[in-house]
Amino acid sequence: MSFLSSFFKKESSVLGIDIGSSAIKVVQIKKKRGRAVLETYGELALGPYAGIEVGRAASVPADKIIEAIKDILRESKTTTGLCGVALPLSSSLISFISIPPVPEKQMAEVIAIEARKYIPVPLNEVLLDWSVIPKEDSYVNEEESVKPEKQGSDVLVVAIHNQYINDYQNIMAGSGLQPSFYEIEIFSSIRAVVDQGISTVMIVDMGARSTKLYIVERGILRASHIINKGSQDITLALSKAMSITVNEAENMKRTYGLKGGPEYRELTEIITVNLDYIFYEANASLLNYQKKFAKNVSKIILTGGGVLLKGFTDLAKISFQTNVVYADPFGKLETPAFLTEEFAQAGPEFAVAIGVALRRLSELE
Ligand SMILES: Nc1ncnc2c1ncn2[C@@H]1O[C@H](COP(=O)(O)OP(=O)(O)OP(=O)(O)O)[C@@H](O)[C@H]1O
Ligand SMILES: [Mg+2]
Repeated sequence: MSFLSSFFKKESSVLGIDIGSSAIKVVQIKKKRGRAVLETYGELALGPYAGIEVGRAASVPADKIIEAIKDILRESKTTTGLCGVALPLSSSLISFISIPPVPEKQMAEVIAIEARKYIPVPLNEVLLDWSVIPKEDSYVNEEESVKPEKQGSDVLVVAIHNQYINDYQNIMAGSGLQPSFYEIEIFSSIRAVVDQGISTVMIVDMGARSTKLYIVERGILRASHIINKGSQDITLALSKAMSITVNEAENMKRTYGLKGGPEYRELTEIITVNLDYIFYEANASLLNYQKKFAKNVSKIILTGGGVLLKGFTDLAKISFQTNVVYADPFGKLETPAFLTEEFAQAGPEFAVAIGVALRRLSELE
């Protein structure tokens, strides 16, 4: 291979990095004949880097995160440092504000003034980003709709503390990676799992520490909510109730899930109680949204490692009065055909990392 071709090969590949509370996920993709092609991907549990079990949310010091990133990049045989990075929803403050009709030029100023009411720290301590939510009627009939200047606007405002970005920048530099952006994981998930269209959907991301809910309308985030219960809570409850180690409980959860049959009645009950709590909260959010905006949520898209639990979708289908599907972010990529089944299985866990990688790839165009 000539120097030039290896140079180009390297340059056209990009990484998506997702540092979750319990595991790091990486995905490497490249562009080929206009399609995003999967090159490699991998996952690494963070627990062991903080002296706790796999599957649990870990509080890992920066130097250990760097070590973990280097390990996963090596294990997955990635070949580039070009990447984008997802930031946890918990690192940000997301608000939806309404602003009065103002000329375009003054928009930023007015948004900053309004946003100050929602952001509990001085604005110079945060990175502030915002986007105006397009008016619905402008989709239906552009000409007859009232001009935005006369109507006022709804604006999505995202604030991230500078300290958070600084910490991430140090971790990325220490890992030898060159990120071109950091984005809140919500936007990565939306890119990876929501199809274009006008329907309203709810993404449920069940991670280790928490379960995150995003309501997305016409591809745009309209509401988000964090439920402080994740998949690790099932494991910890099992360990306690059944007097088994956390590792044993984690294995049992992953091996049998809700499909253990009569011998595993206690396991089934404990999982069900925990999931019922999450579904109840999610339903409340959903109904609240439907009432407030007079919109029907037509589909629930399941993401995050927690939804891999056996029998999860069956229970979710009973709990939600709407269509429930497993996220298929690998479906946005070209993947080896013989592994289709494996990708369908792993999909929900890699939604964030794939969404990040897709954005980084689009930057190359
Ligand atoms: N096959 C499985 N069955 C049941 N649970 C599983 C399975 N695989 C993974 N999990 C659980 O999923 C959780 C990890 O999911 P994920 O990787 O999405 O979390 P995370 O991104 O690290 O966390 P968060 O999004 O809360 O920061 C762990 O608690 C793990 O026990
Ligand atoms: Mg996650």
